[in-house]
Amino acid sequence: MGAGVLGFDPGLLQAIADRVRTPAYVYSTNLIRAQYHALDDALHGIRHRICYSVKANGNLGVLRVLKQLGAGADIVSVGELRRARMAGFDPDGIVFSGVGKTAAEIEEAVRSGVGFINIESTSELATLTTVATDLKLPARVGIRVNPDVAIESHPYTKTGEKTAKFGIPFDEVVTVAQRIAAEPRLVLRGLAMHIGSQITDVTPYHRGAIRLVELVTALRASGINTLEALDVGGGLGVRYHNEKAPSPKAFAEAVVPVVGAAGLGLLCEPGRYLVANAGVLLTRVLYRKHAGGKEYVIVDAGMSDFVRPSHYNAHHEIIPLRDGKRPEEVVNVVGPICETGDFLALDRKLVAVGPGDVLAVLGTGAYGFVMSSTYNQRPRPPEVIVDGDRYYVARQRETLDDLLRGETAEPTTWYKA
Ligand code: LLP
Repeated sequence: MGAGVLGFDPGLLQAIADRVRTPAYVYSTNLIRAQYHALDDALHGIRHRICYSVKANGNLGVLRVLKQLGAGADIVSVGELRRARMAGFDPDGIVFSGVGKTAAEIEEAVRSGVGFINIESTSELATLTTVATDLKLPARVGIRVNPDVAIESHPYTKTGEKTAKFGIPFDEVVTVAQRIAAEPRLVLRGLAMHIGSQITDVTPYHRGAIRLVELVTALRASGINTLEALDVGGGLGVRYHNEKAPSPKAFAEAVVPVVGAAGLGLLCEPGRYLVANAGVLLTRVLYRKHAGGKEYVIVDAGMSDFVRPSHYNAHHEIIPLRDGKRPEEVVNVVGPICETGDFLALDRKLVAVGPGDVLAVLGTGAYGFVMSSTYNQRPRPPEVIVDGDRYYVARQRETLDDLLRGETAEPTTWYKA
């Protein structure tokens, strides 16, 4: 078999490509478990919960694995809440962040007993207060703080700077906390931050945690003593190419002593760290073509299936599954979508491949399928879960009929204002 696809058996991947066809996402439960255990072990010195960020990969089979490991869940919508609950997550271990939760979403979260409904604005707090009062139910609340801490990452994935849309501005937190404390139905259980994604230096976590503890001190001084945990967010970076991913130990050293000294439990919300490198996207070469001095490898997966290269210019390693010594060449690996921005790799050195060859696109377990679309009327790919030497289709390939659901060519009901 060709160069190893780290953690996967290439023979099994080829069998999956042949049976399930391509494009297809494949996830390894063993790799997810290994990542979880490494982080869980690193955090052993403090009462903690790893709340998996469902947005990274919401497949029910993936959620089931993480739930069985003891993870909580970080969600951003009622859709993710439904998934987390279907996978069996305990509502108490669910953290609900997001700047635009609707009243209906907040209501479902309160009814479900979500552990931390993280407030991101004062107007959202007003909605939560009304919902909980009307329902006559308790609401368990966190405040997502904007700690004003900078990170190095893609501009689209920085969230913790003062100008970001996320969280309550640092100097308003005490006032907001007092308002929460004054509401009989609301209990303030934690402070949270999420400073960004694909973070490769742990220093900002340390700085952010210190900022949160400053607030804890201020809150305690103002008589608020209901806090149970600090949530340091997600964002732990991984190695896609030549990045230096921080070790779980380095992450733990940055946050555990700070949070521990405040006498609180620790929550974190990793998504990518747990699943990115546990997933590959299998795609088959359709055609070869030479144009304008470039070699093109045209494959059956496009930006509709996997958007990170197009959207963030992200580098994802591509490994052909087929064996044999072949010369290397520099190619553009492109998809079938009608956009020049539809590529998986540009000017990439790859061993020679031809029609029928299956390629594994690595690091696609996070923000892969969940960001896929049906652009160009392409059904979304299936998701396959590998456990040891077995696999199952955890989500079927979408059908063309699925894409037509809810739509009619002839008007059915006309409305007037
Ligand atoms: N917690 C909150 C509140 C978040 O907004 C996010 C991600 C996470 C946790 C998990 O972050 P992670 O550990 O996965 O970095 N689509 C982009 C990433 C956007 C992340 C959005 N928020 C990408 O493909 O790189």
